[in-house]
Amino acid sequence: MYRSHTCGELRLEHVGTNVTLAGWVQRSRDLGGMTFLDLRDRYGITQLAFNMESNPALCEQARKLGREFVIQIDGQVIERSSKNKNMPTGEVEILVTALKVLNAAKLPPFTIEDETDGGDELRMQYRYLDLRRGPVQQKLRLRNQVALETRKYLDSKEFLDVETPVLIKSTPEGARDFVVPSRMNEGQFYALPQSPQTFKQLLMVSGFDRYYQIVKCFRDEDLRADRQPEFTQIDCEMAFVEQNDILEMFEGLIKHLFATVRGVQFEEAFPRMTYAEAMERYGSDKPDIRFGMEFVDLTKLAQSKDFVVFNSAECVLGINVEGASEFTRKQLDELTEWVKRPQIGAKGLVYVKCNTDGTFKSSVDKFYTEQDLQAMAAQAQAKPGDLLLLLCGDLAKTRKQLNELRLHLGTELGLRDPNVFKPLWVLDFPLLEWDEESGRYHAMHHPFTSPKPEDFHLIDTEPGKVRANAYDLAMNGVELGGGSIRIHDRALQSRMFDLLGFTKEEAQAQFGFLMSAFEYGAPPHGGLAFGLDRLVATMGGSESIRDYIAFPKNNSGRDTMIDAPSPLNDAQLKELGIKLN
Ligand code: AMO
Repeated sequence: MYRSHTCGELRLEHVGTNVTLAGWVQRSRDLGGMTFLDLRDRYGITQLAFNMESNPALCEQARKLGREFVIQIDGQVIERSSKNKNMPTGEVEILVTALKVLNAAKLPPFTIEDETDGGDELRMQYRYLDLRRGPVQQKLRLRNQVALETRKYLDSKEFLDVETPVLIKSTPEGARDFVVPSRMNEGQFYALPQSPQTFKQLLMVSGFDRYYQIVKCFRDEDLRADRQPEFTQIDCEMAFVEQNDILEMFEGLIKHLFATVRGVQFEEAFPRMTYAEAMERYGSDKPDIRFGMEFVDLTKLAQSKDFVVFNSAECVLGINVEGASEFTRKQLDELTEWVKRPQIGAKGLVYVKCNTDGTFKSSVDKFYTEQDLQAMAAQAQAKPGDLLLLLCGDLAKTRKQLNELRLHLGTELGLRDPNVFKPLWVLDFPLLEWDEESGRYHAMHHPFTSPKPEDFHLIDTEPGKVRANAYDLAMNGVELGGGSIRIHDRALQSRMFDLLGFTKEEAQAQFGFLMSAFEYGAPPHGGLAFGLDRLVATMGGSESIRDYIAFPKNNSGRDTMIDAPSPLNDAQLKELGIKLN
């Protein structure tokens, strides 16, 4: 028996018990007559005491132990004279009677404690050591709980967990595919799934009715804090359902997860907003509604005078930053520089200070009278003490820029409390989006999404105006998940591929299997997928998903611990029939 208890288990009630513990040496303190060691395992930390007087040999042995040595000890639980209220085991310690080194350890490259001195890169390179740290373990525990409760909920609703293949052929989800060469079919490649989309639809054709899978997906796209090249979806599909059935089912899942894992109860139904409204009010399809600062359209008022910058713009949009009229010149200059950074790309920032004495001060005073500024303030419902910030330009770009500014200020002003959770269903996404680069329409969600019947008459004349039966669940400014009601009719699916610029042959080659399946009795169906990494990170109060993945990739898509990706040797390349330039 390696251990009788864990390092997180012992309390006052165990005083007098003889125990055996095993774990890692976190740190040691040598106080002359006594030596103390902190022994750690995944359950906690227990203090070990060695007495120089009663057992000098053992004490000497303990003093020689380095950090991260793996040891096993026997001893008796005693009450601590100086108790540590911050530690669950802080009222007791073990008076050690025997010590065995199970394995020595090199000095770790960073301290393995809750607060570490290790930088990001170093910790990723030695991720197995980073994973010993309490806060990191906590995040993976949260992930485990979310996955477990997801399974419980979906199982209780008759969902069946079905695995789908990983070596497949390209499914268009809007990113590039990762591809795998086939040795047995030289010159041919599998694609790794961007999602199991077509398979889950085929399972509906097969009659499975309610499917789910917690599944790895792979997308070769530019990485950000909330994007990894391989990530995990809670992927779901249902047959014989309408949009509302799906929203209710998965709202139920999110409520269940928050209640069981975080102790957060959502009493009300999640608010719903159309895509058009979200864009108008927040300039984003995943608005963070934890705070206000909604967009105000000031185009008309702003274009009533001779300010050519505003007059030549498609729109002038503003936000009201409550209580910020005291922002200094320096702060306003910094904000202006911030929106002018290439990542944001605004040309400039106009402010209108609504001073507490009822006067106004603006960066465009030259062009607008006090009354003009007052009218703008009134439109934005700004009070004395508030600050209006205005951006202008092309509508889509200005919305995007103002959304960034709104989120930035929300963060800076502490309005985005990570312990407050605000879900929002965003509905009625456009079916298509125009892509300037390729000069054609792309499916905004994916090509299997059904158009709204009431908009279908626009499909030839104004395809950009057709809305889809597509929805996202946003929370705190993060897109947690998304899905749609699918097309289940061969003719309509084929029409969709035409619209997306596929030739009949291309559509047949890529999706013939799906269209054939639709000829054998496909039920009406729809579904959605949540990003598990994003869901867990949001529940944990973080915007970065990396910490919630045991072995994540860095921003260049590298795993620096195993050093992947890496070159293949010549023999492997030859076997695969691949020549490199
Ligand atoms: P979608 O492409 O919207 O839909 O993806 C669903 C959810 O997956 C998460 N996600 C990601 N998480 C981390 N890193 C990434 N690179 C990444 N990409 C996506 C997001 C997103 O909301 N097959 C459809 C679902 C459906 O229609 O049922 C799909 O994959 O949280």
